[in-house]
Amino acid sequence: MRRVIPYGRQTIDDEDIKAVVEVLKSDWLTTGPKVEEFERAICSFTSAKRGVAVSNGTAALHTAIAAAGIGPGDEVLVTPMTFAASANCILYQGGKPIFVDIDPDTLLIDPDQVRAKITKDTKAIVSVDYAGNPCPYDELLEIAHERDLILISDACHALGAEYNGKNVGALADLTALSFHPVKHITTGEGGMVLTQNDELEAKMRRFRNHGIDRTARQREADQTWFYEMIELGYNYRLTDIQCALGISQLKKLPLWLERRREIAAKYHDAFRDLDGIHALKETPGGKHAYHLFVIEVDGKPGRRNKLFAELRNKGIGANVHYIPVHLHPYYVKTLGTGMGLCPIAEEAYQRILSLPMFGTMTDEEVQEVIDAVKGSVF
Ligand SMILES: Cc1ncc(COP(=O)(O)O)c(C=O)c1O
Repeated sequence: MRRVIPYGRQTIDDEDIKAVVEVLKSDWLTTGPKVEEFERAICSFTSAKRGVAVSNGTAALHTAIAAAGIGPGDEVLVTPMTFAASANCILYQGGKPIFVDIDPDTLLIDPDQVRAKITKDTKAIVSVDYAGNPCPYDELLEIAHERDLILISDACHALGAEYNGKNVGALADLTALSFHPVKHITTGEGGMVLTQNDELEAKMRRFRNHGIDRTARQREADQTWFYEMIELGYNYRLTDIQCALGISQLKKLPLWLERRREIAAKYHDAFRDLDGIHALKETPGGKHAYHLFVIEVDGKPGRRNKLFAELRNKGIGANVHYIPVHLHPYYVKTLGTGMGLCPIAEEAYQRILSLPMFGTMTDEEVQEVIDAVKGSVF
């Protein structure tokens, strides 16, 4: 089969495999000690106070929206330049996603547009650190504080990103992470919600476990069979097998982040003076985590598709992130959204292209991507 450099991929080594096998031989495959150990490890890395591990990033967003108390009639402001899950989680709880247009330089939610879309029914903001670039948190937190809104950060792209010297995991009221294989570290499927608030943490621990007040391990320790379900929840638990993999992966994260930033610097250098394309800007005061490296193809719509096809022909797994969520047929059909609602996102969508970026990408692979872009006619 022809070799393709993917846009993202996981790296699993013998240490990871050993860690997983140890759990497979232990008493607890799920709801055991590795879950807390992983939560503590992520908290220590991000400086978040509390972490609740869940089965994937979408579950993390759903858990966060539920903890924020979002329900029918509540409006939640959300960026359209994201994966559908960032908005879907609002629908899961009966809330109404209100799409807010983005900054054309970074494709991050635009704080001025956020202000303009607040109504008496607005309860929360879901911001996304798109591509790993941190949102302008100072402004978003100021708005949230002034208008009594909950800030939920979808940081599924941004494990390791910083804003004004602080890890993004410790900035918003609630922060969602994903450990899908294309992300910075993986547990196969997996996610976590971070918070500084003990009450929200307790709510989220129940929510991921059917709304039950005691876990199997607590019951075991207390020598009791008794538990009560006190609210509606889900089975969003992450297994000990997955958490062991996460703990092992996390040890390598600092190196992988450094490598991602190194690759980004090479791309920036290579494309700075190249006519016809430009890279997205970094947020002032931010430290990008480079989940994705996104370029914009200038000029007429259609040139991006041409470059995409040329790169794919050359074995470069370029991709497009994202079709703005408000243009998906489900949203058009059920919420009546569509073209014209967020013109900047719609325009950007015609021009964006994600180039390969992962923590173990070699210099040769990076050069191959650069040469392929430079050698393309589009
Ligand atoms: C911005 C964003 N939010 C949420 C998710 C959902 O994460 P998961 O795939 O772990 O459910 C993703 C996944 O790709 C994402 O990119």
